Amino acid sequence: MTDAYTKLKTRLATEQHTWLITGVAGFIGSNLLEILLKLNQRVVGLDNFATGYQHNLDEVQSLVTPRQWQNFHFIQGDIRNLDDCRCAMHFTYAQKSIAPYLHTGDKLGEKVVEKNNVVEYVLHQAAIGSVPRSIEDPITTNETNISGFLNMLVAARDAGVKSFVYAASSSTYGDHPDLPKIEAKIGKPLSPYAVTKLVNEIYADVFARTYGFNTIGLRYFNVFGPRQDPKGCYAAVIPKWIAAMIKGEPVYINGDGETSRDFCFIENVRQINLLATTVENPEAVNQVYNVAVGDRTTLNQLYEQLYLNLLPSYPHLQGVKPIYRDFRTGDVRHSQASISKAAMLLGYDPTYRISEGLKVAMAWYVNILI
Ligand SMILES: NC(=O)c1ccc[n+]([C@@H]2O[C@H](COP(=O)([O-])OP(=O)(O)OC[C@H]3O[C@@H](n4cnc5c(N)ncnc54)[C@H](O)[C@@H]3O)[C@@H](O)[C@H]2O)c1
Repeated sequence: MTDAYTKLKTRLATEQHTWLITGVAGFIGSNLLEILLKLNQRVVGLDNFATGYQHNLDEVQSLVTPRQWQNFHFIQGDIRNLDDCRCAMHFTYAQKSIAPYLHTGDKLGEKVVEKNNVVEYVLHQAAIGSVPRSIEDPITTNETNISGFLNMLVAARDAGVKSFVYAASSSTYGDHPDLPKIEAKIGKPLSPYAVTKLVNEIYADVFARTYGFNTIGLRYFNVFGPRQDPKGCYAAVIPKWIAAMIKGEPVYINGDGETSRDFCFIENVRQINLLATTVENPEAVNQVYNVAVGDRTTLNQLYEQLYLNLLPSYPHLQGVKPIYRDFRTGDVRHSQASISKAAMLLGYDPTYRISEGLKVAMAWYVNILI
């Protein structure tokens, strides 16, 4: 565990702040919710269930205490609607308190008071997050990921939040050939999804210059872990393959299997979100950061790791090989991050490499798929 992260968690456990997580019913959003509630933080969550699930929220509820769960306020709403974004920034909650001075006639004791609260920290995760989905439906992706993002920026600026951290993406590197990827060198986007994530960064930069509104963008590289959706044609590779292998269904590799990714376990993503939100160094804000481990794993190597881990429990996998098919349009060929900038300015120090993360993730999938 990193020093900076351990210190931060110790501090947060004794100070209650108010956070807004958009996309809270999704994979990453629900994981951020879990860690914040466990740290006794107050959290407002906004989601329209486009790709998120009530069962993700139910699972978080089962992992925290009833008292911690009371600190969560869910708003079913849409970031494409500016009023929903504004509403999430200013919410009213009921709090039980002992009132020492009561009006004549009132009895001394516990009473419920309404308190108005303004969100201090925003973790903006809501988006339509798949390259192939954006190729099939660029309009919905654009409306959510660009117009929705702009609504969130405006609502957060007007509410005067202390910090705004948003989910950017490694897809922004597009066709740039250099490895490892460093934040300052990007290529041309290869999909509508990548365009939207690039535009997010441009808007964030313009909001800093024009309104003095500070943000931090986190360029996630292939995140995986518990609660990542294994279902549907847009599922990410790790949950999709684990589910297929457990069920004895074919595993398809797009291309020759030498396409590579810097797979990043969710615990590392939780860490950097908390570090970025609370960072005090002025040089660290209005920046984008790679969020990864700095490793490179090919799809063939990934298949091998999953196969070897699952084989002892699922003997039907013995000798099963993946099926190779065409490369997929819009996919970047190789991806591997430099994480030096995040380490230097945020104190980011990923604690899980792919093999450690896969063990945790596989145990979770085995549990939900049996
Ligand atoms: N998972 C990854 O590997 C990865 C990589 C790069 C970037 N990202 C980004 O991280 C963020 C979270 O991704 P995820 O993997 O958790 O995806 P996810 O689909 O599990 O979560 C996205 C959440 O946003 C919600 N949402 C979508 N449209 C909305 C709208 N209009 N209003 C309100 N809520 C809406 C969905 O219902 C869902 O709960 C996204 O911005 C995604 O682009 C993810």
